[in-house]
Amino acid sequence: MNQSVIIDVLTIFPEFFDAVFDFGIIRRAKLAGIVEINVHDIREYAMDKHRMVDDRPFGGGDGMVLKPEPIFAAIENLVGMSDRDAYPQGTRVVLLSPQGKPFQQADAVGFSEEANHIVLICGRYEGVDERVNDALVTDEISIGDYVLSGGEPAAIVVVDSIVRLLPEALGSETSAVNDSFSNGLLDCPHYTRPAEFRGMKVPEVLLNGNHAQIEKWRFKKALEKTEAVRPDLITNENGER
Ligand code: ADE
Repeated sequence: MNQSVIIDVLTIFPEFFDAVFDFGIIRRAKLAGIVEINVHDIREYAMDKHRMVDDRPFGGGDGMVLKPEPIFAAIENLVGMSDRDAYPQGTRVVLLSPQGKPFQQADAVGFSEEANHIVLICGRYEGVDERVNDALVTDEISIGDYVLSGGEPAAIVVVDSIVRLLPEALGSETSAVNDSFSNGLLDCPHYTRPAEFRGMKVPEVLLNGNHAQIEKWRFKKALEKTEAVRPDLITNENGER
C-alpha cells in the first residue's frame, strides 16, 4: 500500500533528532523518496503567550504532565482532524510511553506494510494528558520494560525498525528475510575474512561451500543461541513453551 511513507515526530526536544535520521539506511531511504521524516516542536503549537507545553498534575503528585491543547493542535494540523476513528486509512498516531504495548518485530512489519502516515508523539516528564490517548492515539508503544526520560530514544528505535523494512530501503544487496525474529529465532553468528584471526578460526562448515550444510549449521546455531538467551521465544507446534 505504501508508495512512500510520511513520518512526523512531535517532541519538545527537536534538536534531539539532529543528524540521527541522516545516516545509513534511513538517509538512503529519504534520498530515494521512500520516506519523508519531519520533526516538529510541540511548543510551536502552544497558543498561550508563555508557550506552555506542560503543567502540574490534577490530584497532586510529582512532575509535570504534557498538556493536551498543543498536541491536539499539532495532530489537527498534520492529520487534518482530532478523532482517531476518522483518520484517513493508513494513518497511525503513536504515543511512546512505558505504559504502551511492547514493540515487536511483527509490529514493525505491520507498520511498514500498512501505514503511509505515522505520527510519533514523544511523551515526557510524568506523562501525557490521558485525553491525548483517548482521542488521538491509535497505538501506545513501549520499547521495553525500563523507563526512559522521554519518548525520543524510543521514537528513533521505532522509526529505524520500520524504515529498514520498507520495500527498496535495504537495497538489493541485502534483505530483512534473515533478520533475528523474522523466523521467530535470534540470528545465527556471522563471520568474514580473515578465516583465522589471532588464533580464532571461522567454523570449517562456512568455508566449504556446501549450502545445504551451511543452512543446517545456521539454523542449529540460531536455535542454540535462542535457547540460551531467549528461551521465551521458543514454542512447540501448540504454541506452548
Ligand atoms: N518513554 C519512557 N520510557 C519509554 C519506553 N520504555 N518505551 C517507550 N517510550 C518511553
